[in-house]
Amino acid sequence: MLWFRAPEKIYMKRGCLPVALDELKNVMDKKRAFIVTDKFLYENGFTKPITDKLDELGIQHSSFFDVAPDPTLACAKEGAAQISVFKPDVIIAVGGGSAMDAAKIMWVLYEHPEAGFADMAMRFMDIRKRVYTFPKMGEKAYFVAIPTSAGTGSEVTPFAVITDESTGVKYPLADYELLPNMAIIDTDLHMSAPNGLTSASGIDAVTHALEAYASVMATDFTDGLALKALKIIFEYLPRAYDNGPNDPEAREKMANAATMAGMAFANAFLGISHSLAHKLGAYHHIPHGIANALVIEDVLRFNAAETPAKMGTFPQYDHPHTLERYAEVADYLGLGGKTPKDKLGKLIDAIRGLRHKIGIKDTIADYGISEEDFMATLDEMTENAFDDQCTGANPRYPLLSEIKQIYLNAYYGRTFTEKEYPKA
Ligand SMILES: NC(=O)c1ccc[n+]([C@@H]2O[C@H](COP(=O)([O-])OP(=O)(O)OC[C@H]3O[C@@H](n4cnc5c(N)ncnc54)[C@H](O)[C@@H]3O)[C@@H](O)[C@H]2O)c1
Ligand SMILES: [Fe+2]
Repeated sequence: MLWFRAPEKIYMKRGCLPVALDELKNVMDKKRAFIVTDKFLYENGFTKPITDKLDELGIQHSSFFDVAPDPTLACAKEGAAQISVFKPDVIIAVGGGSAMDAAKIMWVLYEHPEAGFADMAMRFMDIRKRVYTFPKMGEKAYFVAIPTSAGTGSEVTPFAVITDESTGVKYPLADYELLPNMAIIDTDLHMSAPNGLTSASGIDAVTHALEAYASVMATDFTDGLALKALKIIFEYLPRAYDNGPNDPEAREKMANAATMAGMAFANAFLGISHSLAHKLGAYHHIPHGIANALVIEDVLRFNAAETPAKMGTFPQYDHPHTLERYAEVADYLGLGGKTPKDKLGKLIDAIRGLRHKIGIKDTIADYGISEEDFMATLDEMTENAFDDQCTGANPRYPLLSEIKQIYLNAYYGRTFTEKEYPKA
């Protein structure tokens, strides 16, 4: 059995925010809204159009604006405490992936204060067959997600990445109960995004689409979204980066593509680029999108092996075909090349070209991580990346030594080469 899930409503088009919010009153008769965002966005007026509209509709509101990048469990608990005093019937998350993820956790803590975080974070092989039953959401509050960056797709995903500040470990929580009920994609809120955010979140969306397309759980439904998202991003991300607020068309295209890539990976999941990136972010504070950008090209080379040491778990295919999948992406993007291997090469070149156009450097070392610090964490990062929830959907199941090799390659700017394994 397979399924495809998405929020019940996704509003898109520049300027759609007030129209979408009308529904909270006119259709749903909501009375109390709790807004979750970060300090920068709050202080720079990003919540103003929302609170103005809520005032007009006669919906009472309160805001929490202390979400920091890579939100912590402590921050989510603090917000949840305020939410349980205010008792909203709608929670509105406004911001990048950090604010939306933190708001999702606050929502869980509000609806089910008794639920154990350790249980919710319990890992699984297949999200459709979990041992742990996630508590039912939405009984107290409807959840609206309004992204201000084009990248994470958190507005349409059943995931929330949260860091346990006491251990430093990042948990990608995953359950369809965490899916927002409504997503509002209004690029009026994206116009001022700085270049660094445009590039990091844009390349994050590239890796979402590539990983969803190669995933063991990819379906025809997710494939269409992933391919179209990639096509849009390759065309419009450099424009959004170069022209910023002066190119509303590029901003809107990027916002749509990021949400579409989000819908693809919400249902097909990710792979080891994200496993490695989660740990690079946690140990070396490299922004999430950049961390993915530093490993994705080598992950493509690694995944494309025709005779891997280990295949992915529960794949829906009977032999490794990831090289063909990447060749399909290259064809769809019109990159040329004759053989599948040529096409993979063209795809990797195109990703590198895009990365350079949007100012992303080549190696982990280029981001100022000293060799000493990197080596001191390498074994731990390798083990944790292997253990990451995203590893299960990767089309090739990695060995620890292979993850380590990809990390080292990303540090020194080398490329993956297949090791000879003894024949059985
Ligand atoms: N839940 C998911 O499905 C999912 C997927 C990928 C990543 N993530 C998580 O998302 C987080 C990264 O999210 P992000 O890349 O959106 O960054 P972010 O939310 O951390 O925001 C980065 C900075 O950009 C600022 N910002 C956001 N929008 C802006 C705008 N329009 N104008 C000016 N400044 C703006 C924010 O105030 C913040 O200071 C990570 O924690 C990552 O783990 C979640
Ligand atoms: Fe991501």
